[in-house]
Amino acid sequence: MTPAARHVVAVGSGKGGVGKSTVTLKLAFALRRHGWKVGLLDADLYGPDIPLMLGMKRDQEAKRWDFWRRGDVRFEPLERDGLQVMSVGFLLAERQAVTLAAPLLGAALRQFVEQVDWRALDVLLIDLPPGSADLQQQLFGVVALAGAVVVVGPQDVAHLDGRKFVDFLRGADVRVLGGVENMSGLQCPHCGQRIDVFPPAAANRAIWSDGVPLLGRVPLDPDLDKHAREFDRIAAGLVTRLEAG
Ligand SMILES: Nc1ncnc2c1ncn2[C@@H]1O[C@H](COP(=O)(O)OP(=O)(O)OP(=O)(O)O)[C@@H](O)[C@H]1O
Ligand SMILES: [Mg+2]
Repeated sequence: MTPAARHVVAVGSGKGGVGKSTVTLKLAFALRRHGWKVGLLDADLYGPDIPLMLGMKRDQEAKRWDFWRRGDVRFEPLERDGLQVMSVGFLLAERQAVTLAAPLLGAALRQFVEQVDWRALDVLLIDLPPGSADLQQQLFGVVALAGAVVVVGPQDVAHLDGRKFVDFLRGADVRVLGGVENMSGLQCPHCGQRIDVFPPAAANRAIWSDGVPLLGRVPLDPDLDKHAREFDRIAAGLVTRLEAG
């Protein structure tokens, strides 16, 4: 069963640490500004970062994860600034780790999709863990995706790993809705000029040369709130592609 969402979109990358969670969150708020009802599922079961990024306090005491794993419990998504949010982090005490064998990740993910009372959503964004291994491979059996957004860093290696992720998606018949290049240069705070902090990817190695539509580029900046307009552009591109079907 798919949640009450018109579109389910996964956000992933070949690599870790390129900014998937950051981009997913900012994109979620941009889609809210567009007027959509947005859900955000943190599917990084081993390293759920969304609660911390949203400043949502974890329960210091609860061991609700054990309870959750036992049976047919239901959970309300938590609400933050109009976003419906679910993360395994809400079920864990702060220092508690998920101990779950890789083959069970898909079943756990299914619980987060089906046992959470998502209210009517235009889009459910799924923030994937790094890589294209266990959870990603089980994802497709759990939920019918409208497609995926690929986040890459600006470097050669990030695009190289991004391309493998694109191939992985295409091999699973998942539509690649577009790519976001994150940490794409830095605007000098003094002169305003763009600085390429990392050597940029060669054009023929970039994911764009593989037919991935460029949704937008996000600079390296500790204050990403300054770049809301770029995220609005990314959101608009995504909405257009989703509505085009
Ligand atoms: N454009 C940016 N400018 C500055 N800092 C950024 C930017 N994007 C992400 N970061 C920072 O980089 C770090 C990694 O980002 P994030 O956790 O979103 O990556 P991720 O791809 O989700 O990582 P993981 O693979 O571990 O899930 C975080 O500390 C985040 O705040
Ligand atoms: Mg992450």
